[in-house]
Amino acid sequence: MVNDVVVRDIAFQIDSENDVISYEGKKIGYKEYVYILMNKPKGALSAASDKSRETVVDLVPEHLRRPDIAPVGRLDKDTTGLLLITDDGVFAHDVISPKKDVSKSYIVTLDGEVNDDMIQKFKDGVVLVDGTVCKPATLEKLSQNKARIIITEGKYHQVKRMFGTVGLGVNELYRESIGGLILPENLKSGECIEMTKEALESSIFNK
Ligand code: URA
Repeated sequence: MVNDVVVRDIAFQIDSENDVISYEGKKIGYKEYVYILMNKPKGALSAASDKSRETVVDLVPEHLRRPDIAPVGRLDKDTTGLLLITDDGVFAHDVISPKKDVSKSYIVTLDGEVNDDMIQKFKDGVVLVDGTVCKPATLEKLSQNKARIIITEGKYHQVKRMFGTVGLGVNELYRESIGGLILPENLKSGECIEMTKEALESSIFNK
């Protein structure tokens, strides 16, 4: 019901500021957009839809699903960790745009060891095999074959290609944070939680 009147016209336009929407006696809040934080599992495609393969949107619970939701940037099929999904295109653009300098932090498991030269090379800005120049990145060695890399852009297969330039292969890739937004520890692989735009913005952009 809109303002206590049953509405059957699918094209009916509500006034989101003033109308009161209810269903079976319960008030329903109107949300312009939905913001979902997912712990992406291995194997799910970062796409809104695919003919045969399972996408991250397929994993979104029914009550959060909307026609236009899509992942904010792409993680490779075998990459795990923090992924945002929304139907707010402006917000998504702000998170992805290299101009906004939002950091993305990944934990990588490598087939070799990080050394000081690589750390310096990443800091200076890696030049990929095709000549693409990457923005300066922070590389930190965590153990013999694990490292943390922080980048502020999201070129295609960027992390894997960056390590490729120093002769290292990436065996596993996990995104732990976007800006100050950290994947909650208790969120299991494949699970989602809904967040507000305000909470996301304050942790991602420190607004
Ligand atoms: N860089 C990659 O190579 N893959 C990802 O999934 C994310 C960043």
